[in-house]
Amino acid sequence: PSVIVKKLFMDGVMVTVNHEIDFEKAQEIALDYDIIAEPEEKVDVIAELLKEDDEDESLLVSRPPVVCVMGHVDHGKTSLLDCIRNTHVTDREAGGITQHIGAYVVTINDQKITFLDTPGHEAFTAMRMRGANATDIAILVVAADDGVMPQTVEAINHAKAAGVEIIVAINKIDKPSANIERVKQELSEYELIPEDWGGSTIFVPVSAHSGEGIETLLEMILLTAEVAELKANPKRMARGLVIEAELDKGKGPVATILVQKGTLHVGDFIAAGACSGKVRAMMDDKGRRVKEAAPSTPVEILGLGDVPNAGEILVATENDKEAKHFAATFVSENRNRLLEETKAKMSLDDLFTQ
Ligand code: GTP
Ligand code: MG
Repeated sequence: PSVIVKKLFMDGVMVTVNHEIDFEKAQEIALDYDIIAEPEEKVDVIAELLKEDDEDESLLVSRPPVVCVMGHVDHGKTSLLDCIRNTHVTDREAGGITQHIGAYVVTINDQKITFLDTPGHEAFTAMRMRGANATDIAILVVAADDGVMPQTVEAINHAKAAGVEIIVAINKIDKPSANIERVKQELSEYELIPEDWGGSTIFVPVSAHSGEGIETLLEMILLTAEVAELKANPKRMARGLVIEAELDKGKGPVATILVQKGTLHVGDFIAAGACSGKVRAMMDDKGRRVKEAAPSTPVEILGLGDVPNAGEILVATENDKEAKHFAATFVSENRNRLLEETKAKMSLDDLFTQ
């Protein structure tokens, strides 16, 4: 690729390895290598790709639960995850690597759980809208000294709208001002009634600081997941969701993907929203390079030509052409929405620069 990119550069065509060049140019370059390039027929694959797949039951195998940690600011979502990861990080050697993605896999008694931290609720809104199936279980974190707050209510609404099972973690019970009963009382107004009050919602009092209750919380997650019998076909082409994405100065567009169906491989052609490309490299949640990612696995991928929006659907395709076609169709079908987003973004930028 570098030789060709250099040659194109000399010819005045500025591209990177992820870009598309026109057919005439490709033909010209191919000729340098004594290859005669021929254009392929245009195929329409979008309909087929987005068609609701009737998965053959016999192809489905168990997959780990995807658990989203939600709640009001400062109620301890990240602390709770830190606590869970510190006591259960399987590979301690890699533990020191900075993880800027909010998705982690934890193994408990040989069973995996994928956790998604939600830093701002905006990302979750996109997820809820575009892929309600992303999360299997929501952990609603409520600080015992603060009780139900506006974002707690928002989180409840998001989880309910997405049809996601809610487990309540009453956090900070180590604090002298903690009042577990008050939290139960307040949440019952939102139809989250604890089992000991005759309801059906699991409540677990925890402390991210002392670690109290964490084991019980994990047990409850595994139990809930078991009942749900979560399955996916790992053999099909991958389908997933963009958790977050950014432009890295050195690496180019970097996207955190949650694989939902199928297996994503290095070398797969992909499209995510309006972007397309080819998976050049994949990193797991511990920063290790991996060659493939099975259902419920979060990975960071390199190789998209652009930065997709959080919440967009990612699809692996048969070839480059399909991936580009998918992205182009997405753009034409979502033109109005994308325009609105650009407008909103621009007005936000205006606000900040004034
Ligand atoms: P956002 O991501 O900003 O919404 O916050 P968060 O919910 O992730 O909260 P975070 O984990 O950052 O914790 C907020 C503060 O609460 C920190 O100062 C934590 O040390 C403290 N904290 C979290 N859990 C506990 C706990 O169990 N007990 C006590 N005493 N403090 C806690
Ligand atoms: Mg946090």
